[in-house]
Amino acid sequence: MTFTVEPSGAALGALIHGLDLARPLADEEVVALRQALLRHVLLVFPEQRLTAAQLAGFCRRFGPITRHILDQYHHPEEPDLCIISNVAESGMGRTTARMAGSYWHSDLSYLADPADFSMLYAIEVPESGGDTIFANLYQAYETLPEDLRARLPGLSAAHDIMAGSGADAKVTLSAAQRAQAPGAVHPILRRHPETGRDALFVNPGFTRRIEGMDAVASAALLGQLYDHATEARFTYRHKWRAGDLTLFDGRASMHTATGGYTGTQRRTLWRAFMGGSTE
Ligand code: SIN
Repeated sequence: MTFTVEPSGAALGALIHGLDLARPLADEEVVALRQALLRHVLLVFPEQRLTAAQLAGFCRRFGPITRHILDQYHHPEEPDLCIISNVAESGMGRTTARMAGSYWHSDLSYLADPADFSMLYAIEVPESGGDTIFANLYQAYETLPEDLRARLPGLSAAHDIMAGSGADAKVTLSAAQRAQAPGAVHPILRRHPETGRDALFVNPGFTRRIEGMDAVASAALLGQLYDHATEARFTYRHKWRAGDLTLFDGRASMHTATGGYTGTQRRTLWRAFMGGSTE
């Protein structure tokens, strides 16, 4: 194989060295990358120089792309990608009080078919701040206290794009966008269809409530799960450099943007969501 895999040493993540993603990948390279991704949950490809078309082409090797319902942020040349930016003059700058995604979430968990994999690619980043933190939801589940773990089988939770935390980082939806995201219900405990491992599947950003439980009991149980899953021992913090590409498995992770930079420091990422299954 043409590339090497260097585990991050944290709870998830590995660096991929020796791959230029601007050239089409051979089928066996995609198979090997997918295996690495399933194993490490998150892959980081440093120093990439990609056009929007090259990036979308790379993403499609991991499944069909789901376009984000916030179509005002679609990439103008490649609408399968969307843009997260604080750069007002680009016409794509977010105007929310906090940046997009600055709350723990698994991408598209509010849809019936959430993303299997997601990609984030750094175009420009502040010198400091703006890191993204990822959490390993396999490990979070496997290390839950036995009494808590025993409560989860059979429970499901409702997810909604406008529910949960992060209200000041979310954009108001048009009626047409709202119609595309009415909400979804998913089991709290999810068996990964490719690895066979169990993972937690709730997140503070989009999970509204545990089905069949009163609001207080639901909030208490979710709070316990979130406190546990976001412990530093289950996380990897990515300090971005322009050209970094991250690819991650949403069936076994959640992530959050962080602040720590001012509005005069430009930060622009392109992203995409691939696959989508409720298994
Ligand atoms: C997101 O996933 O929604 C944003 C992540 C980031 O900007 O760091």
